[in-house]
Amino acid sequence: MGLLATFLLPAVSAEASAPLRTHAAAKGKFIGAALATGPLSNETAYRNIAATEFNQVTAENAMKWDSTEPNPGQFNFSGADAIVDFAVQNDQQVHGHTLIWHQQTPGWVQGLSASAMREAIERHISTVVGRYADNPAVVSWDVVNEVFEENGNFRTSFWYNTLGQSYIADAFRAARAADPDARLCINDYNVEGINAKSTAMYNLVRSLRQQGVPVDCVGFQSHLAIQYGFPNDLQQNLQRFADLGVQVRITELDVRMQMPRDSSKDATQATYYRNVVNACLAVAACAGVTIWGFTDKHSWVPDTFGGEGAALIYDENYQKKSSYDAVHDTLASGSGTDDTTPPTTPGTPTASNITSNSATLSWSASTDSGGSGLAGYNVYREQGSTDTLLGQTSTNSITLTGLTPDTEYQVYVRARDGAGNLSGNSPTATFTTEEGPSGGGGCTATGTVQTEWQNGYVVQPVTVTNTGTTAIDGWTVTFTLPAGHTLAGSWNATLTVSGQTVTATNAAYNGNLAPNASTTFGFQVNRPNGDTQTPSGYTCA
Ligand code: XIL
Repeated sequence: MGLLATFLLPAVSAEASAPLRTHAAAKGKFIGAALATGPLSNETAYRNIAATEFNQVTAENAMKWDSTEPNPGQFNFSGADAIVDFAVQNDQQVHGHTLIWHQQTPGWVQGLSASAMREAIERHISTVVGRYADNPAVVSWDVVNEVFEENGNFRTSFWYNTLGQSYIADAFRAARAADPDARLCINDYNVEGINAKSTAMYNLVRSLRQQGVPVDCVGFQSHLAIQYGFPNDLQQNLQRFADLGVQVRITELDVRMQMPRDSSKDATQATYYRNVVNACLAVAACAGVTIWGFTDKHSWVPDTFGGEGAALIYDENYQKKSSYDAVHDTLASGSGTDDTTPPTTPGTPTASNITSNSATLSWSASTDSGGSGLAGYNVYREQGSTDTLLGQTSTNSITLTGLTPDTEYQVYVRARDGAGNLSGNSPTATFTTEEGPSGGGGCTATGTVQTEWQNGYVVQPVTVTNTGTTAIDGWTVTFTLPAGHTLAGSWNATLTVSGQTVTATNAAYNGNLAPNASTTFGFQVNRPNGDTQTPSGYTCA
């Protein structure tokens, strides 16, 4: 019977029938699975599939804090090491999961005082990350996991309640110190589409990176369910994170259904798997897709979601399901990375509405023929070898703010498409900002955030200094409020708002400044819950 079947089967090229990892590697991506230590040590079928189909693995539980340090100072790496050793043997990369999470953290950590908790985080991260820092298989870590509520507020976990949001930056810095080469990720669920939670994550990642906190990567868990619909803006969402300069990855994909399983549910599930893989293929900065397990025999779904199951790509007898074929065929032929065609080069920008600290640029639009579509433009300042990104826009025009008075700017534009391809540089345009009102006087302004909370902050002082050689008798400070932020009050200056640009002029009693003299003013701002941005681009004239 075996022989007969072999002879009757049509010839399939070795290439087409190759395992998932072969096709993923050909696309420059990983395809991975979360592994559980039990079946890895005692089920041959589990081990064989894990070894042959995947080029990336994540420990489903073995690297969580309750596994590695169940009691203070008592470390146990048997499970973690078993998974890392398996990956080394099978030429797979390991994603470390997860350093700081509000679940599966031992009780002794949860009750610590703030200073003791900070020390525990430091020791945990340096020990766990440090253990594998020299192992070339272990390339990345989930540093923090699930820090947001669904509405975008910070989750009021024991971490947050004890330490405030500072634990997030501290954890990333500790991980960087423990392994300077590892890629450091923030990971969450229900952030696959564009929504309040994913936007809070976007704002946090942007603000952490602006502060120099080493966030290199964003993980989208992707625990999907066919009865809730597919997040059709997944690719667009991945791309907006990619445009911040971070790697993105699908970290815990499964697609559950209400039991019992049937062929129509299987077919729907297969389209979800196909769509996720396609979205990752279409975004250049998407490193790959990790499935949360691979066989329905070992899945967290039935234990967690009552009446649901069958979420993976092999059934409980290790037989491939339609969803396996969907992942396989999409990796083998998906359209994504085929878009390597950059958009056309934009036209020369022209500058208008030039003031002492702002200017509007517009240029003739680019077109994109590669399939992913035109996504927008990056505007750069030409400065020798260290050109700076001045701004990004989705239209063929931008108003630059926070520019320095009386300064020549050489600028050019590049178009971006949905696959992350950048066009050539447009020709350069040159403009010079106006002199500030006080001419040769010269002054500077710097703002300091004195205190901040979930949805607001106080900037105090803004220090205005006369840096010129002659006295000034009046000053104007401008700065930019992040999108969605609104002024709630101010003192020692008069503030007016236009768009997000705030203009502060001196009060009657603090306009006169001798050379080198300073004065201060302050203000308070309301911002969306969970947004951690603060104003930037203070200029004085
Ligand atoms: C789950 C595991 O699959 C289960 O075995 C365990 O009992 C609980 O945790 N988000 C995560 C993962 O980041 O660590 C979780 O894994 C699933 C949800």
